[in-house]
Amino acid sequence: MNTMNCDLSAVLFDEYRIQARIRELGVQITHDYKEKKPVMVGILKGGFVFLADLIRSISIPMQVDFLAISSYGSGTVSTGVVKIHKDLDIDINGRDVIIVEDIVDSGLSLGYITEYINKHNPHSVKTCVLLDKPKAHKIDVVFDYVGFAIGHEFVVGYGLDYNETYRNLPYIGILKEEIYQ
Ligand code: IMP
Ligand code: MG
Repeated sequence: MNTMNCDLSAVLFDEYRIQARIRELGVQITHDYKEKKPVMVGILKGGFVFLADLIRSISIPMQVDFLAISSYGSGTVSTGVVKIHKDLDIDINGRDVIIVEDIVDSGLSLGYITEYINKHNPHSVKTCVLLDKPKAHKIDVVFDYVGFAIGHEFVVGYGLDYNETYRNLPYIGILKEEIYQ
């Protein structure tokens, strides 16, 4: 038994459910980008586990890059202030970009990232997010690929953290409120 498990009130998505959904997303992306060679831009740190599994479910040539941002500080509420810690290495001018993000809450981070990517004149930009909190959006955000929609609960695991912890849980669970209150 994982000792981090007692900090969770419930497991939302187990490993099997996550992998099954990722296989579906991979098939869809493979189909949509058949004649193309997309650049998958993983948003660090939260998106790294999802990206690692997602790219292995895609069977066309593609490239990977990372953008490291921070939007939360150490709490559980988005500040709306996004800071870039690591920029793109690949020149995305004229390229087909897929932004890969762990979770969308207010939508402020993804809105900022999409705008930032668009400034580099890509040929197209699509977004792929593992988790979406539709009721928490503060701005209009459009996704092309979504893993699962969830409620307002704060979740951890499978790359997602609270205070840089829990990223290594192989499943996604709801963090007990007493941990962050
Ligand atoms: P937004 O800007 O409010 O949409 O927040 C998006 C970012 O906040 C995500 O990329 C995550 O890094 C983090 N985040 C939002 N909700 C959660 C959560 O439930 N658990 C862990 N991180 C979260
Ligand atoms: Mg993130």
